[in-house]
Amino acid sequence: MNQALNILFTASEVVPFAKTGGLADVAGALPKALARLGHNVIVVMPRYYSIDKSKLEHVPGPLGVPMGAMGELWAGVYKDTLPGSDVPVYFIDFERFFGRSGLYADENGFSYPDNDNRFIFLSKAAFQLCKKLAFRPDIIHAHDWHTAAQPVLRNTRFAFDDEFRNAATVLTIHNLQHQGQFFKGVMDVMEVGWEHFNPHELEAMDGVNILKGGIAHADAVTTVSRKYAHEIRTPEFGFGLDGHIRAHAHKLYGILNGVDYEEWSPDIDPYIAKRYDLDDMSGKALCKADMQERFNLPVWDDVPLIGFVGRFAEQKGIGLIAGTIEGLLHLNLQMVMLGTGEKWAEGFFSDIARRYPDRFACHVGYSNKLAHIIEAGSDLFLMPSLFEPCGLNQIYSLRYGTLPIVRATGGLDDTIQNYDPATKTGNGFKFDWATNDALYHTVKWAADTYRYDRDAYTIMQRTAMQARFDWERAAKQYEDLYYHTLYARRVADYR
Ligand code: ADP
Ligand code: GLC
Repeated sequence: MNQALNILFTASEVVPFAKTGGLADVAGALPKALARLGHNVIVVMPRYYSIDKSKLEHVPGPLGVPMGAMGELWAGVYKDTLPGSDVPVYFIDFERFFGRSGLYADENGFSYPDNDNRFIFLSKAAFQLCKKLAFRPDIIHAHDWHTAAQPVLRNTRFAFDDEFRNAATVLTIHNLQHQGQFFKGVMDVMEVGWEHFNPHELEAMDGVNILKGGIAHADAVTTVSRKYAHEIRTPEFGFGLDGHIRAHAHKLYGILNGVDYEEWSPDIDPYIAKRYDLDDMSGKALCKADMQERFNLPVWDDVPLIGFVGRFAEQKGIGLIAGTIEGLLHLNLQMVMLGTGEKWAEGFFSDIARRYPDRFACHVGYSNKLAHIIEAGSDLFLMPSLFEPCGLNQIYSLRYGTLPIVRATGGLDDTIQNYDPATKTGNGFKFDWATNDALYHTVKWAADTYRYDRDAYTIMQRTAMQARFDWERAAKQYEDLYYHTLYARRVADYR
């Protein structure tokens, strides 16, 4: 076996402790898969207000975190493990930054104005914790802008600390839209030296862009699908950083996420009306009827039922859905949406539900249980994202035999093969252009296939349910990358 690595894994959200999106799913699953390969992983995250301290183990002694102009701040540390594993999760407890109801924003959706300090604090606290635990990481794996300061800090403020002398850094971009762009005064909190405030490192539009600095300093940068790793080099998907990413493309990789089949499998799912699998699909019809009842829709078994689960954000293509929904509902189909987010969308879709009570239902809110019920009960799953770094729901849908209708972008393009009527192959329906027309005709095509070519639909369903995107594959790819990166870094350090 290869050498076991010490891996520091810091993330702003981790399942099952705190979640707003797929980042939490990844941070809760990948460390376990790496541990199964024999590595020593520790996970570090904030102790948000919603995480009950009394259920955690207290790690004695305070943790001092140097915050430059803010002085040294003192945090508490708590500990738990990722469920079903020995992987330790350390919670950084600091009331002033994390004792709030939201993770990143208040109830009205306004980002907390001190998010820069909050997440630089997390990034540094993880380093200080390594010192406290005498944990010498070989790999420092950071995620999104929240911890993207770590590769910068590794090369600057913490460069000469013994614990990090041998560490290489990997930065995973789960979503390039959010970059951590702040007032430049935060340089004095990061303590990295103003010589790093330049357009090749941290500076953007006369402010600090934390993700940009992380990309510049990380030894390897990854995204969560191969297609997205290519897309972000272009202005269309680069959110202003495409030039910077092109300059670092030699160290950019795409590793597709896995999914947790212990949570997302119709044969063991505790939330659905009747379990089913390939050898007996009868339960799926019951799940459909149960879903229609729960959402107060008429129970029509032969009408295509389309599901949507996701954040109501522009990224997810909700603008396209809003622009087409009335036309679609005249196609004699039913649709159910579950999500929260932009207020206009919550109001708009709730209003459509009032106007088309026998065709359309919308649950504004966050419910893991309803997400499972929709995956199992729907015939088709709609995910027309404008961009999608990986996307998890389309992969869950495949396992439930619920064929995805997606836009050919990012991870959606990498996981879904378009239906080919000539050969009756494929596992879903895809369109390229983000236009109402393309969405409308692709949904119509999928609904027609369900209704009039049940054979083709059933063959695709079987293909979909047999596919596996497990974490073991992804973890092995990360492992390869870790060894490669560590080796390259050590060679470079000798020069
Ligand atoms: P993103 O991270 O961009 O939001 P992903 O597809 O990677 O998109 O992951 C979203 C995750 O959040 C999935 O596990 C999905 O089931 C879950 N999710 C999103 N919105 C809701 C909701 N309203 N209720 C329950 N689960 C949700
Ligand atoms: C982000 C992306 C999503 C991806 C998830 C986990 O939130 O929007 O596409 O699946 O991260 O990597």
